[in-house]
Amino acid sequence: MNNRRIWLKQIGLGTIGLGLYPFETFANGTTESILPYTDNSPILLRSNENPYGPSPKAREAMAKSINISNRYGWNLSPELITLLAKKNTVSENNILLGAGSTEILDLILQYTALQKGNFIIAETTFDYWTAPAEKLGIKKITVPLTKDKKHDLAAMLKAIDADTKMVYICNPNNPTGTLCQREDLISFIKEATQKTLVFVDEAYIDFTDEQSLSDLVVTHKNLIITKTFSKMYGLAGARIGYALAHSAMIEELSILKSSPNLSLSVVSIAAAIASLNDESFIRQVRTSNEEVKKYTTTQLNLLHLTCIPSHSNFIYFSLENYKKDYFQQLKDHNISGTRIYEENGKWTRITIGTMKEMQRFIQALK
Ligand SMILES: Cc1ncc(COP(=O)(O)O)c(C=O)c1O
Repeated sequence: MNNRRIWLKQIGLGTIGLGLYPFETFANGTTESILPYTDNSPILLRSNENPYGPSPKAREAMAKSINISNRYGWNLSPELITLLAKKNTVSENNILLGAGSTEILDLILQYTALQKGNFIIAETTFDYWTAPAEKLGIKKITVPLTKDKKHDLAAMLKAIDADTKMVYICNPNNPTGTLCQREDLISFIKEATQKTLVFVDEAYIDFTDEQSLSDLVVTHKNLIITKTFSKMYGLAGARIGYALAHSAMIEELSILKSSPNLSLSVVSIAAAIASLNDESFIRQVRTSNEEVKKYTTTQLNLLHLTCIPSHSNFIYFSLENYKKDYFQQLKDHNISGTRIYEENGKWTRITIGTMKEMQRFIQALK
């Protein structure tokens, strides 16, 4: 048996298999999950976390991997990379692991900044990771979303100038939940990558029926896709993400890291490997998310609150017609939501929790 196989066996992943389990048993919406979950527990609808995860197989593998946490993950990370290459129909040298996709986002910003100039990003989108841009000496150029809160690909293409070093597209977009169609993105990528690096963040792509753009990285050197285990796989606290890019681009990004692929703990790698083998969990998360999204959207509409159709595990809606103090209502009911993203229309975002949590959320608004 080779080294890798011995390691996998040690964490119970040599032969994967767990019995059936009642899905809702594992649901809890709190970070205080080591405490018993009661009707008074805080409801966390802020960070688009998965209220059902980690998957049972991931929990089992994480527990077993504690025993080998005295060792570095040299032998395990190649196993994860191989599985990710297979899942994304690319080669191993098209993948770079990160402690959450945030680590990769930071790296891409650094890589971009080293070339000086500007980068283009939508307004409104996921942009916390761009905070160091000014310090790194790179200028941020924002392009407004379309009226229906989608990326304005034509305007973004137009905004590219001689100094542009990167364009960021979040698909589906956080916080609006809107989706660019694959064909539109392919046309955009074909044109834009001739001038600059295109970075597509697919943190929420697993919640859609849309095909990932990962297959394009083999033929487009100027394209990076990022993915995460934080959302669909319910492993936000385990911090696992990765980049998919042309092997030459992976090499360029790796040069900026002292130890590429070594920032994940053995426990996190074990969780990721086990999760990739738990398809029934993913199916259940998707089904529940759709069911609860439908319920929540209907209820918000009954309260005369406009929602943007969501392709994700959160809903962007307008508080314009809401007569009470939304944030006070949340506070009074021990619910953690987000902020106003756009003053014009008072748009905010809510994560889709379990049915029980969203019933409590809707009750709190009434
Ligand atoms: C669009 C998007 N990208 C990236 C991230 C970062 O995810 P992580 O670092 O947990 O992989 C998030 C987290 O909310 C996100 O919404």
